[in-house]
Amino acid sequence: MRPMSIEVRNIEKRHLEGFVTTIEHAFGAEMRASDIPNFERKIDIDRMHAAFDDDQIVGTAGVFPFRFTIPGNVVDAAGVTMVGVLPSHRRRGILRSMMETQMRDAHDRDEHIAVLWASEESIYQRFGYGLASNQGHVNIERDRAAFLDDQGPIGRVRMVPADERLKVLPSIYEQIRKDTPGMYERSLTWWEVHSFYDPEHLRHGATPYFCAVVELDGEPSGYVVYRMKSRWADDTTPASVVEVHEALATSPDATREVWRYVFGIDLVQRITAYYLPADWPVFLMVPEPRRLRFSFSESLWLRIVDIEGALADRSYAAETALTFEVVDEFCPWNTGRWKLDTATARVERTEDEPDLALKVNALAGPYLGGFTFTELAAAGRVTELTPGALERADAAFHTPRKPWCPENF
Ligand SMILES: CC(C)(COP(=O)(O)OP(=O)(O)OC[C@H]1O[C@@H](n2cnc3c(N)ncnc32)[C@H](O)[C@@H]1OP(=O)(O)O)[C@@H](O)C(=O)NCCC(=O)NCCS
Repeated sequence: MRPMSIEVRNIEKRHLEGFVTTIEHAFGAEMRASDIPNFERKIDIDRMHAAFDDDQIVGTAGVFPFRFTIPGNVVDAAGVTMVGVLPSHRRRGILRSMMETQMRDAHDRDEHIAVLWASEESIYQRFGYGLASNQGHVNIERDRAAFLDDQGPIGRVRMVPADERLKVLPSIYEQIRKDTPGMYERSLTWWEVHSFYDPEHLRHGATPYFCAVVELDGEPSGYVVYRMKSRWADDTTPASVVEVHEALATSPDATREVWRYVFGIDLVQRITAYYLPADWPVFLMVPEPRRLRFSFSESLWLRIVDIEGALADRSYAAETALTFEVVDEFCPWNTGRWKLDTATARVERTEDEPDLALKVNALAGPYLGGFTFTELAAAGRVTELTPGALERADAAFHTPRKPWCPENF
């Protein structure tokens, strides 16, 4: 066999078909010719890298350039996506070299963090990604779904046809997005080509997206986008499933009314939803939380690309000074001792004795407020070198709500 010469570089428009075919092979997911125009509108071709074996694409790695919410700020972030290697070329270091190219590119572009959803959790920690947030799932028995101390419905619910959704939903999303670490801005194009993209072959036997908006005091205050899968048990009993795609609301009242609508859909036996916030408030609104079958899995993985910039970008909830001893084998520019003054968000290299020692991937949890330093220390991922430093760090990195990314990308 002749030696393999692999080069990782940006793609051009003429490579799109090979790029898409490689993703199909890597994920075993079908993409149809009719999806290609949508795909082209979604990507920024300058941010798509491929591994070439001569002129054949054998690996892919893309980035969506996000405006991404972190505590107290909105920053540029690399939204890593479409990472795949052909089965014929696996385990020869192609992913590793694509990750190196991508990380250098993000660093050169002054993106201080990168985020992704992982198809397999085992892949990314070696590249410095750490767990930043969890997602909740539910599988609700509809006949047990009710509200505690229920005063009855308020406001009104309106079905929103497909051609009206882009006029109504983005402003609701925006109100939540700007204050929720883990969410990113959606352009109108993104809503069309990603959030609402709804070709028949992606429905798996369910309806197209339906959408209902809750109005409180005449203002659109929450929405749910969902599909229904029609089923009959024993040919006689209605047993349909509602699959919630996205449910967002701007207040506790709006949250309750959005879910009241969902709980009330007739002929439905079960309601499923993924991508819910880890601190989903409905869990505390119902008399029988266990019946929601609320469970967790991990959601966003985050990489600190530039520690100095990333720590300076966020806001802090308490004033203190902390020195971190950080190890980062993949991005060595982050390795060393860093002093953070949380009162001014000033970050500098230092020779001071460290308060906390950790690998760079352990910073992902506290960075968005998903996990505390104390939780990471309990897992052996952070070492406290100055007594009391964990408590001070937790107070400074505290956020009132958990981070939330309601959408896979
Ligand atoms: C995951 C995938 C991209 C790996 O590509 P690859 O070129 O074979 O990976 P590399 O040879 O560069 O391996 C780099 C490291 O990752 C590890 N690794 C690779 N794939 C892995 C997997 N699926 N699970 C756990 N570890 C994995 C390798 O063991 C290697 O570890 P090391 O550096 O510590 O020795 C490829 O198998 C693939 O396309 N899988 C299906 C699609 C997918 O899951 N993509 C990820 C999307 S989020």
